[in-house]
Amino acid sequence: MPKRINIIDAKDHVDEEVQIGVWLTDKRSSGKISFLQLRDGTAFFQGVVLKNKVSEEVFDAAKELRQESSFWVTGTIHEDSRSHFGYEIQVSNIELIGDSEDFPITPKEHGIEFLLDHRHLWLRSRKPFAIMHIRNEVIRATYEFFNQEGFIKMDPPILTGSAPEGTTELFQTDYFDKDAYLSQSGQLYMEAGAMAYNKVFSFGPTFRAEKSKTRRHLTEFWMIEPEMAFMHQDESLEIQERYIAFLVQAVIDNCQYDLKLLDRDVDQLKKYTKLPYPRISYDEAIEMLQKGGFDSKWGDDFGSPEETFISDQFEQPVFVMNYPKAIKPFYMKPAEDRDDVYVCADLLAPEGYGEIIGGSEREVDYDKLLDSIEKAGLDLSQYEWYLDLRRYGSVPHSGFGLGLERAITWICKLDHLRESIPFPRMINRLRP
Ligand code: 4AD
Ligand code: MG
Repeated sequence: MPKRINIIDAKDHVDEEVQIGVWLTDKRSSGKISFLQLRDGTAFFQGVVLKNKVSEEVFDAAKELRQESSFWVTGTIHEDSRSHFGYEIQVSNIELIGDSEDFPITPKEHGIEFLLDHRHLWLRSRKPFAIMHIRNEVIRATYEFFNQEGFIKMDPPILTGSAPEGTTELFQTDYFDKDAYLSQSGQLYMEAGAMAYNKVFSFGPTFRAEKSKTRRHLTEFWMIEPEMAFMHQDESLEIQERYIAFLVQAVIDNCQYDLKLLDRDVDQLKKYTKLPYPRISYDEAIEMLQKGGFDSKWGDDFGSPEETFISDQFEQPVFVMNYPKAIKPFYMKPAEDRDDVYVCADLLAPEGYGEIIGGSEREVDYDKLLDSIEKAGLDLSQYEWYLDLRRYGSVPHSGFGLGLERAITWICKLDHLRESIPFPRMINRLRP
């Protein structure tokens, strides 16, 4: 029996006879030849069926295959310099496994809502395939980076009683006879982790009841939240930029095929591996906007047009530092020399992708933190444990959160976050 392989390993089997479990994505036939577009979940390539090389039965079977039917294909691997993939299979035999009904996603163009309604099937197409591979690489590289930097992965709870990023976007759920919320950030728990294990990171789902429909917001998204004890914000920024450059380099190194499927310009991506990234203050950003014709004034938060304009002034991702207190959460540390801004930064991605990281140094003083919690109108009883971290050996510490889908959307150069996650959750979408 021929060796069973995956399409992705075809390069190691040139001129060998092999067998592969595949699905049909498309086909084209003439009197003497059929071209079968095949996928096996590891890659896409072409099968060529020549009438004079196979039995009549096999030639007819090939012509009758329906889109997304599954079968064992047997044949010989050849180089194919015309395709992205570089190899094809010259078919000698076909054994049907599962026939398919009319597949809703045909090779023609479909509208986005139709595709999202069929996301469970759409995942099989080339573009989602490439994006999910890049997502996987970003996840893999995240673990590699933080492991090599000496971080411990620690998992914060998902059911919580606290609201680190403000109370307006909480998903509430019944928790026996009390209310609970789905976590919007694990940060407060990661601060406890940093006091216990020095450098920690979390990687898990977070939830925000975002009522707006934008290209940058999901209601369920994945966040990586590192938190470092004995660390000030400037050192945290260095970790952030090295982390982002590491992710981009990992995708360049390990996802060439996927980048080709997406037509992503690799030279563009290479620019983002150069360090350091530029740093500007919020004050400078406001000035830049005003000069650029925006009617922004000091104290305003940035929407996506503002973030895009700022990032367009730079070739690399840019840190915008020291935002006004009024537009950032209670746990941040105020600047030493002025009382109106925090020691914090957002990292804005190039090419119009906006904020991918938010982070800050944290308030370490018990009384000041208590005051901030009260001023934010939060329920103090939920934060007693958090205040404990300032009661018992409080140290300077900093951390940040990277939105996984924001990073992927930028690296893949997608139009919308919804394509960066297998099953997106948005205000109008809980299915499939
Ligand atoms: O800026 P945010 O709100 O910061 C925090 O949650 C901090 N507690 C993080 C920390 O310091 N540990 O969110 C962090 C990142 C954003 O920069 C963005 O990339 C992403 O999370 N994000 C979203 N991604 C998708 N959909 C949404 N609705 C998002 N909201 C934030
Ligand atoms: Mg933010």
